Amino acid sequence: MSIVDVLLGLQWGDEGKGKIVDVLTPGYDVIARFQGGPNAGHTLEFNGIKHVLHIIPSGIFHKDKINVIGNGVLIEPAIFKEEVEALRQKQVEPIENLYISKKAHLILPSHRLLDAANEQAKGNAKIGSTLKGIGPAYTDKIARTGIRVGDILEFDFKEKYQLLKFQHIQIAQMLHFDVDAFRISGMTLEEYETKWMDSLDTLRKFKLINSEYFINACLKDGKKVLAEGAQGSMLDIDFGSYPFVTSSSTITAGVCSGLGVAPSAIGRVMGITKAYCTRVGAGPFPTELFDTTGRTLCEIGHEYGATTGRSRRCGWIDLPALRYACMLNGVTDLIVTKPDVMNDFDEVKMCTDYLINGNITDEIPFEFNEVEIKPQLKSFPGWKMPLNMATKFSELPQRLLDYLGEIESITGVPILAVSISPDRKDVLFK
Ligand code: GDP
Ligand code: IMO
Ligand code: MG
Repeated sequence: MSIVDVLLGLQWGDEGKGKIVDVLTPGYDVIARFQGGPNAGHTLEFNGIKHVLHIIPSGIFHKDKINVIGNGVLIEPAIFKEEVEALRQKQVEPIENLYISKKAHLILPSHRLLDAANEQAKGNAKIGSTLKGIGPAYTDKIARTGIRVGDILEFDFKEKYQLLKFQHIQIAQMLHFDVDAFRISGMTLEEYETKWMDSLDTLRKFKLINSEYFINACLKDGKKVLAEGAQGSMLDIDFGSYPFVTSSSTITAGVCSGLGVAPSAIGRVMGITKAYCTRVGAGPFPTELFDTTGRTLCEIGHEYGATTGRSRRCGWIDLPALRYACMLNGVTDLIVTKPDVMNDFDEVKMCTDYLINGNITDEIPFEFNEVEIKPQLKSFPGWKMPLNMATKFSELPQRLLDYLGEIESITGVPILAVSISPDRKDVLFK
């Protein structure tokens, strides 16, 4: 019996999961996404070309590997079709090596309507959702009113669809949302619905399977499975900065329910963190920088959302949050990305503790959104040199190694690798 290794984000998303999954894929037989949906934007770069994936797992560029969209994922068929077409334009044909769980839930156009209606109703308390329909679609899943991928093969699919759409429109109207003025990519709800319905043909052509049986059979055969997370631990529905979170279990526990594997089948848990920290959308961010350093991180790090294009908020690495994420996930290995963004910094800082109401703590408080948190910062001299001269981990500048050593010591988790550019080739394993 083989095991499932896990790769997930430890911050507020965008840690570089897509890139690292692509790099690790040669060591696995199956890459499986376990949660999230088109709110994710996973970037991969190789041979001078950049690819952004939203629903399709990041192992898709390796033809001989099976990629699975698990039951815990949400699929928006029109976005899925666009993603498939974008791959085809780059001569990547996913029809043979992409399997989709029949139990994955669908995002309807009216889920996207409701997402916009909910956000508008929140006024100043907006979450900053990606507006892809994530919250409403997971709400229907939990309320037992959702529609699943397997349902598109059934005779009563259209009936189920119409009923759910009708309910969504009623809720949107109750929230005083202008349904007629609503647009998705410039299209009215009805226009987008036509596109959405047409795209079901693309979805139907893929292998729609009971992915829990498939994955467990792979494990029994000794095949190696890598579970790919989306978002990050601080956006987890239970443990993130609620309500400024996404609507799924982004942590290791989500792998079990999102793929149908037993907890005892979980092997290594590789957690990714940037060497600094970013967040898109609203919610607490104790180490956020509002000065030129923050702007420099954003500019040099190209910190603009891969899904929405919004600029990401930037700040120093937050070790209380990172320690929390390591605890929740049982992280066995850390992977650090983007230290190269700070190559020209005279000084690099990390937050080791929080000062809250005069007390020092390294715990994330329940009142995370309400209390004033003063990050306690430890300063390190910058390494002030490019990192691309290093061909192995030990060749990295000593000052960076000292900085990384402190992260290991505070989290208690060893670093497995450091990524020093967006490109597939630039990952240094320790
Ligand atoms: P994901 O959602 O976790 O897959 O991450 P995103 O793709 O949303 O954001 C990560 C961004 O950082 C992308 O633009 C990547 O190309 C880029 N990136 C990943 N690793 C590195 C790195 O080590 N250095 C630099 N400079 N960029 C990186
Ligand atoms: P990847 O996989 C960064 C954020 C949104 C918003 C909140 C809720 O690329 O790391 P949602 O659309 O899920 O209802 O939005 O979560 N968010 C992300 N931030 N990376 C992501 O995914 C995200 N997915 C959602 O900005 O604040
Ligand atoms: Mg992303």
